[in-house]
Amino acid sequence: MSILKHKDLPKWLDKIIYNDFKAIFEPHPQDVVYNPDQPYEFVKIYLGTYFPRSYAESFCIVNNLFENSNYLSSIYTLEEINILDFCCGTGGEIIGLIDILQSELPNLKRINIDAFDANPDAIRFLYHLMESVVTSGNIVVDINLNPQGIFVSSEQELSDLVNLTNVQYHFIVSFKALNEFIQHGTFKNKNTYSLISSYFLPLLSDVGVFILSDVATKLNNSERYYPQILNDGINSIINSGKNEFKTLYPYSCYFNEMTCNGCYMQDVFTVSHSKKMNDVSKVAYRIICRKRFADAIVASDFNQSCRKNNPLADKNLPYNY
Ligand SMILES: C[S@@+](CC[C@H](N)C(=O)[O-])C[C@H]1O[C@@H](n2cnc3c(N)ncnc32)[C@H](O)[C@@H]1O
Repeated sequence: MSILKHKDLPKWLDKIIYNDFKAIFEPHPQDVVYNPDQPYEFVKIYLGTYFPRSYAESFCIVNNLFENSNYLSSIYTLEEINILDFCCGTGGEIIGLIDILQSELPNLKRINIDAFDANPDAIRFLYHLMESVVTSGNIVVDINLNPQGIFVSSEQELSDLVNLTNVQYHFIVSFKALNEFIQHGTFKNKNTYSLISSYFLPLLSDVGVFILSDVATKLNNSERYYPQILNDGINSIINSGKNEFKTLYPYSCYFNEMTCNGCYMQDVFTVSHSKKMNDVSKVAYRIICRKRFADAIVASDFNQSCRKNNPLADKNLPYNY
């Protein structure tokens, strides 16, 4: 394996979304900013345009995490993986995650997924996609979705949603969604990234990771970019806690999050499919886990294989994107 920034959509998935589900590739940057009540026809555009990007982002991010041999060996023998996706939409990141997990974990037999979103049309697409998902071997994939959708409009409702869960997760993901809460002022003056993290981080297993990814654009009517707000929020939750959690990636955040006030960052991935070659996606993300786990896998690896093999992993850089 090596650091991956590009992924082709697998042929079976390409066929399902464009041939069977009639998804449409048509970028709509203005309209994609708020999605809980987008109608069926728009969700088809989302599926054809943004789903493949989320698929590739998730596949590449987790592939690159597996580059850390300490991380890989910590979960290598697992037979069962639990995943939670907050604001899954049509679930591109879920399918990308399933694909990379099944290619890297030889003993994997079962994947359990709890996925939440407000948009019932997006959930319906994801439900039918999961019926057709192609897994190698005999891996069972079990997804738990609420068909009506769950709209989170307050901290109390977020807490109610978290109370619906009763397992510890190996992966908690939220992709390109929290900016929508910020735009709508859902959590008033609180930092959305910090608040969401404070509810989800305690659900992580000892070897679990929270991948919090969002768009890299500017917040409307503001001088601030979402990645700055994200970094600000994550740094504050980590520094205000009981030393329980730590950033695993970017490695520069692991080393600097105690002093950083929230810098801009961005990573660029591309995806190719039958409707577009090298479609570009720009996101900002942090991978957070229990501190003991982060210390074990970053500190011991950093000066050895990771540093040698990963030209991006230089702790002297302000951020390693
Ligand atoms: C841009 S989409 C991202 C979907 C998916 N994570 C992906 O990367 O393709 C944002 C998702 O957040 C969901 N969402 C936004 N605000 C929400 C809220 N208040 N409660 C629940 N879901 C919400 C939308 O319904 C939408 O599916």
